[in-house]
Amino acid sequence: MLLTQGSSTVDDMTDHDHGKGQAGHGNAGHGNAGHWLPDGMNDLLELDAEVLHGYWTAALDWVRDAAAPLSPARLLDLGAGTGTGALGLAERFPAATVTAVDVEHDALERLRGKAKERGLADRVHAVEADLDATWPDLGPLDLTWASMSLHHLADPGAALREALAITRPGGLIAVAEFPEPLRFLPDDLGTGLPGFEDRVLGPVNAAHVEVMPTLGSAWAPRLAEAGWNVTAERAFPIDLDRPAHPDAGRYAQLWFARLSHGFADRIEPGDRATLAALLDERGPHSLLHRADLHIRGTRIVTLARRD
Ligand SMILES: C[S@@+](CC[C@H](N)C(=O)[O-])C[C@H]1O[C@@H](n2cnc3c(N)ncnc32)[C@H](O)[C@@H]1O
Repeated sequence: MLLTQGSSTVDDMTDHDHGKGQAGHGNAGHGNAGHWLPDGMNDLLELDAEVLHGYWTAALDWVRDAAAPLSPARLLDLGAGTGTGALGLAERFPAATVTAVDVEHDALERLRGKAKERGLADRVHAVEADLDATWPDLGPLDLTWASMSLHHLADPGAALREALAITRPGGLIAVAEFPEPLRFLPDDLGTGLPGFEDRVLGPVNAAHVEVMPTLGSAWAPRLAEAGWNVTAERAFPIDLDRPAHPDAGRYAQLWFARLSHGFADRIEPGDRATLAALLDERGPHSLLHRADLHIRGTRIVTLARRD
C-alpha cells in the first residue's frame, strides 16, 4: 500500500506545533513572505499532485465527505497554485463553482489550461490577487480549501478571519499543511557519512522559517484564534518506498534544487558536494535515476466550521 492513513478528531489531536512560528506577523528577510517562492515551484506543485496522487485523493475525498451534507455551491481555493485542489473539488462537487485565488500569474495560467482540458472552465474561475492585501469580493462561501498556502502569507491570521467573515454560517474551511518537510533519501547514501538529509534539512528548514514564520506550525489553534470552530483534524502519512511513479525522481530533483536555492551557504561543504552530485542529472548519483528513493512525511488537514 502506497499511502497509509490515520485519523483523529479534535478531541484527541496531538500538538503538531514545533514552536517554529508565531501567529500572524513577521516577514523576516524577504519582505512579503508570500513572494518568496523557489524557482520551479509550479512544476513542483504539478509533480506533487502526480507523485502524491494517493494523498491528494484521500485528502480531497475526506473533505468532500465532510462538506457533502452542506451541498456546497460556492468554493474558494485560497492560494490555489496550479489548481490541484480547485480542480479536484470542482470534480467532487459537480454543481459548485470554485474561485481559485493566487498571486502568481503563471500558476493561474496553468490552472486555467487544465480547467479547460478537463471541461471545468465554466465552473472554475481563476482570480489573481494578493491575499495579504485587500481581498477581492469572494463571498459568500460554503467551503474554503487552503493547501500549503497559509504559511506563505505575511498574516495568515488575518486571512483566516477574512475567510470566516465571507463564509455562510455552517460553512467550512479545510487547511492542509505539514509539520515537517518531506524526506526522500535513505540515511546512508554510501558517502561514508550517513545522515545527509538530516544535516541539510536542519539549517535549510530554519532558513525557511525565518522567511515564513508559520511554516510547520499547528493550524488548529490559529483557526480557533481567528474565530473558526475546529471540528476535526486528520494526519495523512505519506510513505512511498521506491515509488513506481515515473516522475518520482524528477520530483525529488526539483525538491532538492530548492535546497540549493539561496541557502547553499548554510550547508557544510561536504554535504554541498553530495547535494551537487545528487543534482547532477548526468552523474551516477543523480536523483533522477536513483533506485533508493523513499518519499515519506505527513500532511495534516484541519477542518473547521463557521458557527
Ligand atoms: C506551496 S504553494 C501551494 C499551492 C496549492 N495550494 C497546492 O497545494 O498545490 C503556495 C501558493 O500560495 C500562493 N501565495 C503565496 N502568497 C500569496 C499571497 N500573498 N496571495 C495569494 N497567493 C499567495 C503562491 O503563489 C503559491 O501558489
